[in-house]
Amino acid sequence: MERLEAAMVKARAARAEALGRKPTPGPAPAVDFDGPPLPPVELGPDLARRQRLTALLGQGPATPHDILRSRVVRQMGEKGWKRVAVTSPTTKCGKSTVALNLALSLARYGQFRILLVDLDLRHPTLAKLLELRHPPEIAGLLQGGKLIDHAFSFGTNLALVPNGRAVARSAEILQDAATLASLDRIETEWKPDIVIFDLPPMQGNDDTLGFLPHADCALIVAAAETSTIPQIDRCEAEVGQLTNVLGLVLNKCRYTDRITGFEQSYY
Ligand SMILES: Nc1ncnc2c1ncn2[C@@H]1O[C@H](COP(=O)(O)OP(=O)(O)OP(=O)(O)O)[C@@H](O)[C@H]1O
Ligand SMILES: [Mg+2]
Repeated sequence: MERLEAAMVKARAARAEALGRKPTPGPAPAVDFDGPPLPPVELGPDLARRQRLTALLGQGPATPHDILRSRVVRQMGEKGWKRVAVTSPTTKCGKSTVALNLALSLARYGQFRILLVDLDLRHPTLAKLLELRHPPEIAGLLQGGKLIDHAFSFGTNLALVPNGRAVARSAEILQDAATLASLDRIETEWKPDIVIFDLPPMQGNDDTLGFLPHADCALIVAAAETSTIPQIDRCEAEVGQLTNVLGLVLNKCRYTDRITGFEQSYY
């Protein structure tokens, strides 16, 4: 997959050169983090199986996530986008699982620095997926706290910001100038090439509506046999009014790939 993506980048550059214009820059190559090292998380194969983190399990199970990663890298690179939000029409479509698998797959790529932030302030689950015993509360970080007190590293190029406790007034907090400034500050510190925000579903709250304009694009995760076509259409239309729709991931597919249950479509 790495070779394929490298070949695609080369082909695009050659095409652009032939057309007499500069190639659109993809995400910049990884740079060193100059802050103190973040505490590492251990994510072994048993945890990966328990939590459906199939991006960690190598070739077969990781393939759908690697395909998604390549598409995300290509599209975001072409458009110069850095922040991708992950949302869904309704709850439990698999947003958090898809967001973390995408982050892990991107990190394995090795070329980019990745930041994944759990911004589902009502129902944070990243800490559970990572099986953290005493996850820090993100509220402190969003009010000016230090990254090192709130984030964990996986490998050298992935920073994970979980949240141990639901935050009251989540919609207001997500649109608060102090929150947005904190997110900018975290990016300045960690220097990610791609930032993934795990957000609540579109239905049932205005958290995501309020935050989406601060993301460059959004990935919509729908659940096969659960999400209805009208729900997906409405979600896509609403998201499209607030940011760029990067694509649709159809998760929980029983009839495609038994291990990952994962399909994608792109615009
Ligand atoms: N591809 C899949 N196949 C089967 N089950 C899945 C799949 N992806 C996720 N799940 C399961 O679905 C449940 C919900 O997943 P997850 O927490 O990722 O969804 P979510 O959309 O983030 O939920 P919420 O709306 O509560 O934030 C979990 O039990 C998870 O293990
Ligand atoms: Mg979630």
